Amino acid sequence: MENLIEVKNLYHRYEDGQKMRAVLKDINITFETGKLYAVVGSSGSGKTTLLSLLSGLDSVQDGDITYLDESINDIGYTKYRKEFVNVIFQSYNLINYMTAIQNVITAVDIKKVKVHNKKEKAYEILESLGIDKETADREVLKISGGEQQRVAIARALVHDSKVILADEPTGNLDDDTEDEIIDIFKDLASKGKCVIIVTHSQNVAKHADIIYEIKKGKIEIKKD
Ligand SMILES: Nc1ncnc2c1ncn2[C@@H]1O[C@H](COP(=O)(O)OP(=O)(O)OP(=O)(O)O)[C@@H](O)[C@H]1O
Ligand SMILES: [Mg+2]
Repeated sequence: MENLIEVKNLYHRYEDGQKMRAVLKDINITFETGKLYAVVGSSGSGKTTLLSLLSGLDSVQDGDITYLDESINDIGYTKYRKEFVNVIFQSYNLINYMTAIQNVITAVDIKKVKVHNKKEKAYEILESLGIDKETADREVLKISGGEQQRVAIARALVHDSKVILADEPTGNLDDDTEDEIIDIFKDLASKGKCVIIVTHSQNVAKHADIIYEIKKGKIEIKKD
């Protein structure tokens, strides 16, 4: 286990009419490798805001976020997003006119990173997530929601990074499929990834090693 990401004295403010409103107030938390984290909190509490900052999609206004002791600001946001983190969006963001396998391969191409034997690797990862070759070769509109969710996860795995961030990854799934997806995330954490999931689901949260709850802009640790 190592301290991978450290959030230090982080504030985040949004413009609200004439004034600025702080959504995150002096957040100090650490994320380690090999652990599954759940970020919970009521709607509008700032979960997606925190995830956007952790994934380098939004820039830090005040305070700092470091990756292996180096500020994301110094690493550079583009490099950080490309090389160090993989994000799974709630809406999957799959490209509908492509097949599952094309979606996974395109994700590698967009990142412009080198992945050895990317096509075989993509099939392999999909297979490990329960998507066989026949399904992988179908357009994503012709596979189920749970399968689409797995494709979105596969896309985040084909390029190896230590951090996986997911916003409501089981939001649209039934309980059984949710359990299967949780197992995938737990397995990734046990293999040394740092997995951070924003969720409303009690079921997902209870499987996490650590639960961070955002309340009135502050973070409380609910389970340690
Ligand atoms: N770009 C923005 N400009 C202004 N206010 C914003 C912006 N993005 C989010 N907010 C506000 O900041 C607060 C936190 O939003 P955020 O999306 O982080 O909440 P959340 O915890 O993810 O909620 P949910 O569970 O509904 O997804 C909300 O009050 C929201 O309206
Ligand atoms: Mg949100």
